[in-house]
Amino acid sequence: MPKSVTEGDGKMPLDMVVEQRSLDLGLSQYAPLSSVWEGSDGDLLEAMFRFYPSIPVEPILDATHNVGRFWRGSTRQVVSMDIDPRYKPMIVGDNRDMVGVESSSFGVVVYDPPHVGPQGRDKSRKRFDVDFGATMPCGANENWTLSYLYPPFLKEAKRVLKPEGLLLAKITDMVNSHRSRWAHCDFMRMADEAGFTVCDLIVKIRRGPMVSNKWKTAHHARKRHCFWIICRNGDRCERLLNRD
Ligand SMILES: C[S@@+](CC[C@H](N)C(=O)[O-])C[C@H]1O[C@@H](n2cnc3c(N)ncnc32)[C@H](O)[C@@H]1O
Repeated sequence: MPKSVTEGDGKMPLDMVVEQRSLDLGLSQYAPLSSVWEGSDGDLLEAMFRFYPSIPVEPILDATHNVGRFWRGSTRQVVSMDIDPRYKPMIVGDNRDMVGVESSSFGVVVYDPPHVGPQGRDKSRKRFDVDFGATMPCGANENWTLSYLYPPFLKEAKRVLKPEGLLLAKITDMVNSHRSRWAHCDFMRMADEAGFTVCDLIVKIRRGPMVSNKWKTAHHARKRHCFWIICRNGDRCERLLNRD
């Protein structure tokens, strides 16, 4: 249980009280990061690079690069990986078996896996599979989820990250075969099992939900959010700098 003291009407954790008093005195360099993000992924990545690292973030491995939307206008040193050669990544390869990638070589691994299976029967979305890499099977054999992709990737991400490096994963839940599939829960549990410390969860929202004319009746809320999950290749969430 966190230590707490009585502040105002109720209990406030001691570290928040200290932080608040430091702010009142103009002493703190605390720059908060909101748990809800309404901007672009690229801007959020930069905000996370300022907030979480204990070690330099570069070089960065983007393990699901596609066309690299995250890095438009960025000057970051990014090594691109994708299983699909059409995107011409620096490494054409499967992030579940990063053959030839040196261990302990990246400050950050970024992961944005497919969040739906192939939309083959939906003709209106013909380009979707190509544009968003929705090519991994997600049917009865896979128990209607894509979460089977995570454990082998997590093992490799841990191997290629430097100690204290960060894994930043963009994960979206989905409805498949009439049920909600909670990919972000699976990912957080699997990351913990792989030996990461799961430090944070940021909800990224967009203005309007994606719409589809495929369905006649709605049974689930149309999602207009996804999650960014922040994991550290170490045994604690606090930055090393904060402890020194
Ligand atoms: C949602 S897209 C990523 C979009 C990307 N973040 C961007 O901003 O352009 C997912 C990508 O992961 C790739 N992918 C899927 N499975 C993979 C695997 N096992 N190893 C490497 N890349 C994979 C797909 O080919 C696709 O390009």
